[in-house]
Amino acid sequence: MTNLISQAYDPEKFRQQGHQLVDKLANYLADMQHISPSEKVLDYVTPEAMYSHWQQDLNGSLDDGEKDFFEEIIQSTIHMHHPKYMGHQISNVAPLSALAELLGATLDPGMGVYEQGNAAVVLERVLSKKLGAMIGWDDNCDGFLTSGGTLGNLTALLCARQLLVEVDVWENGYGRKQYAFMVSSEAHYSVERAIKVMGLGSKGVVTVPVDSHFRMRPDKLEACFNKAKEDGVEVIGVVTSSCATATGSYDPIGPVADFCEAKKLWLHVDGAHGACVLFSKKHKHLLAGIERADSVIMDFHKMLMTPALVTSVLFKNGEHSYQTFAQKASYLWDKQESREWYNLAKRTFELTKSCMSIRVYALWRTYGEAFFAENVDRLYGLAMTFTNILLEQPDFEVAVKKPESNIVCFRLMMENWSEEKIEIVNSNIRERVVRDGEFFIVQTKVQGRLFLRTAFMNPFTTTNEMELLIKKIRLVANMP
Ligand SMILES: Cc1ncc(COP(=O)(O)O)c(C=O)c1O
Repeated sequence: MTNLISQAYDPEKFRQQGHQLVDKLANYLADMQHISPSEKVLDYVTPEAMYSHWQQDLNGSLDDGEKDFFEEIIQSTIHMHHPKYMGHQISNVAPLSALAELLGATLDPGMGVYEQGNAAVVLERVLSKKLGAMIGWDDNCDGFLTSGGTLGNLTALLCARQLLVEVDVWENGYGRKQYAFMVSSEAHYSVERAIKVMGLGSKGVVTVPVDSHFRMRPDKLEACFNKAKEDGVEVIGVVTSSCATATGSYDPIGPVADFCEAKKLWLHVDGAHGACVLFSKKHKHLLAGIERADSVIMDFHKMLMTPALVTSVLFKNGEHSYQTFAQKASYLWDKQESREWYNLAKRTFELTKSCMSIRVYALWRTYGEAFFAENVDRLYGLAMTFTNILLEQPDFEVAVKKPESNIVCFRLMMENWSEEKIEIVNSNIRERVVRDGEFFIVQTKVQGRLFLRTAFMNPFTTTNEMELLIKKIRLVANMP
């Protein structure tokens, strides 16, 4: 055994380093909960400067003494636990889930088959059955976890393709027919990406218009379907955005399900962001009709506080999930046709994947479903509060006056400003706010118009931070 290997695996060293790191992180969390006015969300450094720093660091050419690597990473990473973080919808990680990740990362068994993944594989099934029951499905439902909503959408749509296209695409390709899925114009780009990865091209995406709240219009489905048919395109499924990423609006699943049933189409619910309301008595109505979906995805690494990536992929009929990938792998299992729920890689895109179930299970087992519900209710409530504050400001416009989720799109504007001027002003505001580092917000286009966007991810954010943000925006726009 070399000295280096012995050092790297020394249990006592690990104990010491682990304790130090946990202390550091506990201090970080304490700082975030008792924030001083000067504590930035992000100490912004240009990508080039950051690159040069770490390049020199690895080359040993930095003249800055023996800096603590972990401490430096904390300093040079955005602080998601800061109450002024209101940016992209990434978890405000609950500490216990981070510890569970450390456990999973240390044991790291692989997860592709039961004899490798053991308990963590079984937990995936327990969680999937539980979520299926919350959707309203019977015990025929099944599912698994995968690495992100993007991959989750692709996996579910691949399954739909395998079942609904009359030729065996997996073995023989598409033949001459053009197939498509219908999605709203507000769908997350990962849906279009999945369709294109499946080789269906632009014609594979049939776009359905949205209403004034940016929700899919079910009354337009028939016309879009017929137009596609006239163009020689066979629609095989509909994807609802539950909710849409830009505005947080929920497509009406019930009427879409009526249409899918009538036409015998697959119904996929992209609940990466918004299916978390399954836990909330107050907001679950936004998913009315979800029990009629064929497949659903939901990210735990958004409002359910786990470290990325943990996406639940769920099928009403668990049998369907075995048909997505029909490939032989004799070194892992004897027969492709047999359906062992515990050999996950038969149904997931990944073979080796992280031990993600532990991160969810640790939270669920310790704090119960109520913990997830409280977080969702809190974050959705913050968006409603912020919208109400904005509606009282004469110089702000909001895209959705009654937000359905934790997302608020808004912008500074004066009556005499052109759309072009509004865009320039707000884009500059966002740039200056982020570079300054006091807040983190993002921007998005809503039906072609630029808006600032906040996604409330941190339950410790209060109205105080909202009021300070409005002040900050006016200040950087020179409109105090
Ligand atoms: C509606 C929706 N679908 C899919 C995704 C992609 O999820 P992920 O970032 O986990 O790949 C997102 C991400 O924001 C989303 O909001």
